[in-house]
Amino acid sequence: MKSEDYSTGDAFQAEKRSVFTADWLPLCAEAQIAKPGDFLSATVGGWSVFGVRDTEGTLRVLRNACRHQNMQVVGTPSGNCESFRCRFHGWTYDLQGRFLSAPAPVAPKDPTSPDLHLIPLTTVTEAGLIFFSLGAPALPPDLGGQLPAYGGTLTTEIACNWKVCVEHLLADHTPSTDFIWRWPLVMVRRAGAVVIVEQIAPHTFLRTRLLTHVFGCAADNHRQAAATIKHVCERLQADRAAGTPAADGALTADFHRRLAEAYAQGDAAG
Ligand code: FES
Repeated sequence: MKSEDYSTGDAFQAEKRSVFTADWLPLCAEAQIAKPGDFLSATVGGWSVFGVRDTEGTLRVLRNACRHQNMQVVGTPSGNCESFRCRFHGWTYDLQGRFLSAPAPVAPKDPTSPDLHLIPLTTVTEAGLIFFSLGAPALPPDLGGQLPAYGGTLTTEIACNWKVCVEHLLADHTPSTDFIWRWPLVMVRRAGAVVIVEQIAPHTFLRTRLLTHVFGCAADNHRQAAATIKHVCERLQADRAAGTPAADGALTADFHRRLAEAYAQGDAAG
């Protein structure tokens, strides 16, 4: 990897299309949007999306882009509502993302057109986590079986490139039934009755959100561990930006190999 790959917005924009368009990307734990009307928005790999549970209990992940002028419809990280009203000019959508109404001055010519609905993404729930994809992956994102009872999620904002966080979480591990890495953004670590699912959300090229989903005990038990990950990743970011490569390891090498493949495919696609 080159130091620019860790420290420039151009590299991140290229990854948005080369790395984050085909595979499953994690959004959140299913329990984070448990009730009808619950929603959670995020930027993952540069894609602005939100998950919502409708009145029937069905979960969807939708592009967070208004069909009027492509602005973000959902401007808050999470909450509960009965409909979504775009704050820019007032186009309103229901909990399934269907266009409901717009103020007269900005109303669409044909309010029944299906092109007015928010764009739904392929969505699955696997072992208590919600995944979405901008493509159509052939297989579901296997996390190695059922998980114990959900204990909560810790959210940690880290001032680093997402690849630094992946490299750090893969370091010192080898693939086993106790440690599963799901390309590109999820690690599952089993320790007896406790399972930790680390979810990396690349927000911008220097901002990464780490969601630590804890199953089998209270999330608070892992607050210190999450703080340590933040501290180490922010230090490693300075190293990568200065050109110091990541430490060798089987999983790190696999990560870099898959990145190189994705970059090459992105280049080929132009
Ligand atoms: S951009 Fe949403 S209503 Fe205009």
